[in-house]
Amino acid sequence: MKILLGIDIGTSGTKVILVSEDGRVLASKVCDYPLYTPKEGWAEQIPEDWWQASVKGVKAVMEKAQVSADDICGVSFSGQMHGLVAMDETGKVLRPSILWCDQRTTEECKETVEAAGGVDELLKMTNNNMITGYTGSKLLWMRKHEPELFAQMTVFQCPKDYIRYRLTGKLCTEVSDASGTGLFNVRERKWSWEIIDKLGLPRAIFPPVFESSDVVGSITKEAAEITGLKEGMPVVAGGGDAVIQTTGMGLVRPGLLGVVLGTSGVVAMGLDKYQDNPGGRLQVFCNNAPDLWHAMGVTLAAGGSYRWYRDVFCNDESEKAKATGEDVYNLMTAEAAKAPVGSDKLIFLPYMIGERCPHHDSNARGVFFGMTLQHTKAHINRAVMEGITYSLRQVNDLICDMDKDIKTDTIIASGGGAKSALWRQIIADIFGCPVITQSGSGDGGAYAAALVAGVGVGLYKDIHEACKNLKEETRTEPNPESQRIYAKTYELFKALYPALKPVFEKAAEI
Ligand code: XUL
Repeated sequence: MKILLGIDIGTSGTKVILVSEDGRVLASKVCDYPLYTPKEGWAEQIPEDWWQASVKGVKAVMEKAQVSADDICGVSFSGQMHGLVAMDETGKVLRPSILWCDQRTTEECKETVEAAGGVDELLKMTNNNMITGYTGSKLLWMRKHEPELFAQMTVFQCPKDYIRYRLTGKLCTEVSDASGTGLFNVRERKWSWEIIDKLGLPRAIFPPVFESSDVVGSITKEAAEITGLKEGMPVVAGGGDAVIQTTGMGLVRPGLLGVVLGTSGVVAMGLDKYQDNPGGRLQVFCNNAPDLWHAMGVTLAAGGSYRWYRDVFCNDESEKAKATGEDVYNLMTAEAAKAPVGSDKLIFLPYMIGERCPHHDSNARGVFFGMTLQHTKAHINRAVMEGITYSLRQVNDLICDMDKDIKTDTIIASGGGAKSALWRQIIADIFGCPVITQSGSGDGGAYAAALVAGVGVGLYKDIHEACKNLKEETRTEPNPESQRIYAKTYELFKALYPALKPVFEKAAEI
């Protein structure tokens, strides 16, 4: 039996996983690291932390599964997208990585649109608007604010590309993370030199781009000594997490919607052809197979909002969880279940770190609307889960608006939030379609990375064959009565952002 290795460089930690050829998870290990927020709206991490976590994780899974280096036939990656890892010619990292959720680049986004000659012109070049998350705006920020460091940069990498570099010594990226720079021609799957030149960025810092399942190098002697992996083992390009985790869920046809409830909430659909992204409200990227594209929208604080709720309101539950070994989220969702569907019109807007989609607005903020003396902690708890889910539904509506033939018929849910039966029911009821979870879905990007490694080393013919081992684990049907209630509260939710937008702007000026 051949074995594949997947490494996912996440925002809270790195997950390393070993998967057998027939799709079974043999061992997995998560190693955490800190996220630094040196100023409001900033988010940074130290790439060396990702490397140390990867090394620790690889050693741990090999030990756990009692697997030797000879048994592993390939490795690939998933990683938080958009992070800027700026490197000099010696391979030194020049500054902490500026992450996907960092909001410092509002000005640089405007400058990109101006350089292109307007949003529509930019969309013709990249099919994506420039947003604060994207690597391109971070490059411009660094050039403006740290010119000396910028001048030393000879190449940049996205987070998982940096780990691949440490394993192989090869500097490159692949189409899905390249799409997430906002400087990539998604239709033609190559850098958009047009916008790069208009912005005056040096062409030399843009690494070569591969397809996700290409073998791009092999484990070096040095990396083999550090990790215990076999020198010369093939290393496959991989993908940005928001793309690869949905690819690994089998999202390869329009109509099948992926909802990934992690720190951010990703709503995504695989596209069997290139689609224009009108107005640039969505992210339309290259997918992890050469004939596939990917449409998605990301609600920035999904699981992140619920974690905030845990940290601020759930001390008792956290203590109890510590004492009993129970999962704190089980205790929390048990309480949320005591509140009625729709939380008696208490509505939560999850814009805790600004928002990307459905509203691209770094000034937006979290809101509880409709609070009364009747509302209990259970209402607030449930309202947070519902508010996040309304926002995901709004993203879905944008995807369906792209093409009249696209209609969501089934949702595949994954990520930490999908472990909750209550949350799956809320999704089914707010979207009005069945929600399923699948084997491997708990391991998200890391599992998908292992599958893509398998495609790369020729164990599977293509990504479709790699996904054939996925098995349905749970199925949640919508409840018609709850659907009726949510149809009304969803309208309230949608009305709140436009009403508050001018107030968010005023608040930002203070
Ligand atoms: C995708 C995105 C996030 C990060 C989180 O565009 O910004 O999903 O990749 O890991």
